Amino acid sequence: MTILITGGAGFIGSHLVRLFVEKYPNYNIFNIDALTYAGNLENLKDIESRSNYSFIKGDITNGDFINELFEKYKFDAVIHLAAESHVDRSIKDPLAFVKTNVIGTVNLLNAFKSCWRNNFEKKLFYHISTDEVYGTLGKTGLFTETTSYDPNSPYSASKASSDHFVRAYGETYDMPYIITNCSNNYGQNQFPEKLIPLFINNIIHKKQLPVYGDGNYTRDWLYVKDHAIAIDLVFHKGKISETYNIGGFNEWKNIDLVKLLCRQMDEKLDRTIGSSEKLITFVKDRPGHDLRYAIDASKIKNELGWKPSVNFEEGLKRTIDWYLNNEDWLNNITSGNYQSYYEKQYNNLAIE
Ligand code: NAD
Ligand code: DAU
Repeated sequence: MTILITGGAGFIGSHLVRLFVEKYPNYNIFNIDALTYAGNLENLKDIESRSNYSFIKGDITNGDFINELFEKYKFDAVIHLAAESHVDRSIKDPLAFVKTNVIGTVNLLNAFKSCWRNNFEKKLFYHISTDEVYGTLGKTGLFTETTSYDPNSPYSASKASSDHFVRAYGETYDMPYIITNCSNNYGQNQFPEKLIPLFINNIIHKKQLPVYGDGNYTRDWLYVKDHAIAIDLVFHKGKISETYNIGGFNEWKNIDLVKLLCRQMDEKLDRTIGSSEKLITFVKDRPGHDLRYAIDASKIKNELGWKPSVNFEEGLKRTIDWYLNNEDWLNNITSGNYQSYYEKQYNNLAIE
């Protein structure tokens, strides 16, 4: 089987690519990634020379390029992760999110459709999405697969739109698809603009920790490797035309999470307990900030037998350890050097 994974140089994508390359030596795994600011091939250094793995630099907003790629490699399945993924950036530049998340997704759907010309037996378009499409919860309740879409940020609006296009192609052209909507991921290799890696980096450098608003916003956190395991399971066992919610059964108010992180970092860095908490600074709130996300993941649990394997305190410790042991990875990002890794390793392979 030949599988196209888009966005494989990013955070979740790199964990997924590694899982598939190592677990399925008989699959041909293609990773297509534009290497935007969020793409980092250092994430995949350990598997880059595997014979069942190929990287191609390419932009999913370029429809001709995507069509050529499908004609050439005839991907049996697509696992689509490439996206602009950061809510704060979407507030500043919504159009970038429309281009990649909506137009990029439609380009992939079109290429998949014309490649297989209505003969979709044993084919799959698997779209990776987010719980943010459901908007916000109040103090109680959980998102289920039947919760209405109600996105509040340009990011979540673009992901909601891409979900609708995937479902519409399924209905209109009988294209086999699955969508999963997952909660907040954390773990190694996450770009240090998102809450946990940003704050780890700031604590290392004794910089302020900018908590938006009063910090009483709630997210449901899942260890990234558990998300990759869930994707593997849904890819192989999920029902066509279905949606599955994936979550950590693990709600945290931001302020409580940040205090836990501060405590764990003080211990690891041998600092006086309480010293990192002093870095917390309450700043202007994110516009349109969703109060609470929480996933009811009972469908994937009951139907496919998935549940998170790593508890949060343990996962956070592993994450902190990884960032402390990989300061070069962080420093390469903050200095901008990480993108030169691509220039050195992959320039001759680029198709654009
Ligand atoms: P990320 O920002 O770390 O990675 C995105 C990757 O996509 C990068 O490697 C980037 O170079 C690539 N990319 C961006 N635009 C592209 C384009 N036009 N063409 C080709 N490649 C492009 O994101 P992530 O956190 O790993 O998220 C991956 C997917 O999972 C996204 O679709 C996101 O919406 C979804 N998701 C993320 C989370 C989370 O907590 N991070 C939770 C649920 C769902
Ligand atoms: O729920 C899934 C989503 O989780 C994914 O679809 C997104 O791609 C991913 O980025 C994430 O979105 P969030 O906006 O929830 O993640 P972020 O890490 O940006 O913020 C987490 C919470 O922390 C949120 O309530 C905003 C707050 N925050 C964030 C940052 C970066 C702060 O208080 N201060 C900050 O500096």
